[in-house]
Amino acid sequence: MTLGNAAPAPDPGEAGAADGPVRRFGPMDDYKLEREDRPGLLEGLAHYVQVLNLTHSWLNILAWILKPFVKILSFYQGVKCNQGSYLYHKRRAHGENFVCAGGVWLGSVDDVMQRLSEPQARTFLLAPTKMDPDHLPMKWKGSKERLVALINLSQKGAGGNGNWEAFRSACDAHIFETEDILLRAKDATAQQLFEDLLEEYKVLKQGTEFFESRNRGLATFLIKYLHYTIMGIDPNDKDKIDILHKFHYESTSAAYHLKVLGDVLKWFKYKDIEQQLRKVVKVYAESPVLSQFPEKQAKYNHLTREELAALMTMMMSLAGMVGPETFAVILLGHRKLNNYETKKTARIDVTKTWDQLKLEDRDEVLRYIYECGRLRNPVSNTHHVAQNAFTAQIGSRKITFPKGTVIFIPLLFVGINDKLWGPTTFEFDHNRQNLQSYATIFHSFGEETNGRFCPAKRLVETMMVDMLIKLGQCRRAS
Ligand code: HEM
Repeated sequence: MTLGNAAPAPDPGEAGAADGPVRRFGPMDDYKLEREDRPGLLEGLAHYVQVLNLTHSWLNILAWILKPFVKILSFYQGVKCNQGSYLYHKRRAHGENFVCAGGVWLGSVDDVMQRLSEPQARTFLLAPTKMDPDHLPMKWKGSKERLVALINLSQKGAGGNGNWEAFRSACDAHIFETEDILLRAKDATAQQLFEDLLEEYKVLKQGTEFFESRNRGLATFLIKYLHYTIMGIDPNDKDKIDILHKFHYESTSAAYHLKVLGDVLKWFKYKDIEQQLRKVVKVYAESPVLSQFPEKQAKYNHLTREELAALMTMMMSLAGMVGPETFAVILLGHRKLNNYETKKTARIDVTKTWDQLKLEDRDEVLRYIYECGRLRNPVSNTHHVAQNAFTAQIGSRKITFPKGTVIFIPLLFVGINDKLWGPTTFEFDHNRQNLQSYATIFHSFGEETNGRFCPAKRLVETMMVDMLIKLGQCRRAS
């Protein structure tokens, strides 16, 4: 299936079966580890216990004794795995496939491509970080409602009951794939928000406050622009914007969805977070876009407006507020490209290229965005759950993992695979071939998808191009 044809994904048959993907790209060239790349003693030990933990028999007492230690290790590794440089280090130390953070990482281009084109079974993970099922819509603690958390629902053909397909098509048809969303992105209100952003860029002298303040600059622009374009919420309605600002920024709404951290913050810091959440759901449900949603239709599995608003509240917390900000600070040169060991990528100053772009050529600006994303993928990985036992080459051994094993999908490895990009893999060249057709930034492989690609892709591309043009003109004028 391709992006323009996002119907429910086909049944994969033997998804995750032992044979692995049909090889289109093959393994990386000469993948023998150099002496200095081999894992040290502690790292080797950590890898060994992770493999043991996933593959041991019921009678293996050592594996049971080690379980509490593996939990702590997985937590530590899960935090680190959000960094591209750490994942790259793991690939250098263990090869394209390795076991880390409680799951198996299958890092070849073919493996990533296969996972992005087949239906996925999901569990309660955000990248490798555990999510709290009691904090997910509409399964909030004590509630008897059904789960509408889009990123945690499995697709049909991978154990799903059809809810993902129904809810996703409701989001696409009534929010993301409408003509209106792009019309709003171009209208006078959106242009005024860009003017305000530009003014802040000048006043704050392109400094840290512009990028990092929660009350000014980039953050203020994003919360208003995204809520306006996606749900039509008036950016000048101060009461509503204050509710959204308090929840998403001051109370770090993304953290509320995570296991342990969500509860710790709720008990000790943001005691009213759940009342805030209800207020945000109400603002979304009453927004110009969601208030028009035709409720309880069979094709959407009887999704209600409140359910859709709750789904969007979670997605705005986890994706809407975090993804664009992470990407923007990379594109605008405030955050460096990944520091891949032995490479000089982190020394590249992307603003030098930005300042040379033909800003009237939107395609060129878009290529710049994709090249930045290739070298620092804003979402470095995601996961799915194996529906069958499967065998993977881990180092020099072929190891069989049971059904139910979490398989991580390192999206960023496609961008830094020298089989695809050759000797200039770690250099910046926004005119390189296949930049968009091999891109995994939005959870597709170029145009190929299982339907699970980021629904905000079109909007985010438009916003980022507009932002780079506007602020780029200002840099040149000054
Ligand atoms: C630069 C900005 C963004 C990037 C790079 C990005 C990237 C991604 C990626 C990689 C995924 C797959 C995650 C996974 O399945 O584990 C995803 C899913 C998703 N994103 Fe985005 N995203 C961005 C902005 C947004 C925005 C602004 C929204 C608005 C709400 C959004 C909504 C979603 C939703 C609803 C999903 C779940 C799709 C599904 O499972 O069907 N994203 N995004």
